[in-house]
Amino acid sequence: MDLSVVKNKVCALVRECGMVMLNADRSEAMIDAKSGHQNFVTTYDKMIQDMLKEGLGKILPEAAFVGEEDEIHSYASKGLAFIVDPIDGTTNFIKDYKRSCVSVGLVEDNEPVMGVIFNPYTDEMFSAVKGEGAFCNDKQIHVTDQPLDNALVLFGTAPYYEDMQTRVFELAQKSLRKCIDVRRGGSAALDMVDVAAGRAEIYFEPRICPWDIAAGAVIVREAGGVVTNMDGGEISLGGYGSICASNGVTTIADIEAC
Ligand code: IPD
Ligand code: CA
Ligand code: CA
Repeated sequence: MDLSVVKNKVCALVRECGMVMLNADRSEAMIDAKSGHQNFVTTYDKMIQDMLKEGLGKILPEAAFVGEEDEIHSYASKGLAFIVDPIDGTTNFIKDYKRSCVSVGLVEDNEPVMGVIFNPYTDEMFSAVKGEGAFCNDKQIHVTDQPLDNALVLFGTAPYYEDMQTRVFELAQKSLRKCIDVRRGGSAALDMVDVAAGRAEIYFEPRICPWDIAAGAVIVREAGGVVTNMDGGEISLGGYGSICASNGVTTIADIEAC
């Protein structure tokens, strides 16, 4: 199996899905509540997930499929699996904030080996295959070498888990004592590719799901960055956990020390 051939096919499919998001009929009643605080899903999350399930099944039939909008998520630690977020940044999508993307990761024995993230608002296709570098459209991307005092710090608020919020804002406030500024963009996948593309130095969030990070993890690593949980351990692709994606120079420990 040539993963760069798979990647090109996935990029074409993901672009099609992104165009559905971009051209969504916003006049339709499209919002449902999911479980959890401020957690919504739209008819477009479901529609795009169906497109991805069908299309990815044709591209790589031997791979399992894990999609955010499935009722039950069954992870296997062996073999190939697509881990998919049809719309990352659903709240932004509902508000027409224009910062959302389609994210498709491929894992092999639980290790991210390919990632594709498409931002239809900027027409940017981020992609990587393990061992082959990371790209934005056709241009290779790389993390910066900047420390915290010259960093843009991105964070997620773990909005569906109120118990996480004190920790998030403590760290954001500490960051601000030293870094250039902080941002909360509303899409974990786009925050990760911003680090990969050298637009920011670090992104962290204390609770996140596998579909938020599976694609971004390989893109950040292939761009020369470091992806761990917030304690410096392995990320979790079989359930929720924390995430820290950085250029490897700016670290959570630096922020904690502020
Ligand atoms: C969310 C976004 C957000 C992050 C949340 C995610 P969704 O994904 O990535 O930035 O803070 O933790 O759940 O719900 O928009 O797919
Ligand atoms: Ca998400
Ligand atoms: Ca989503």
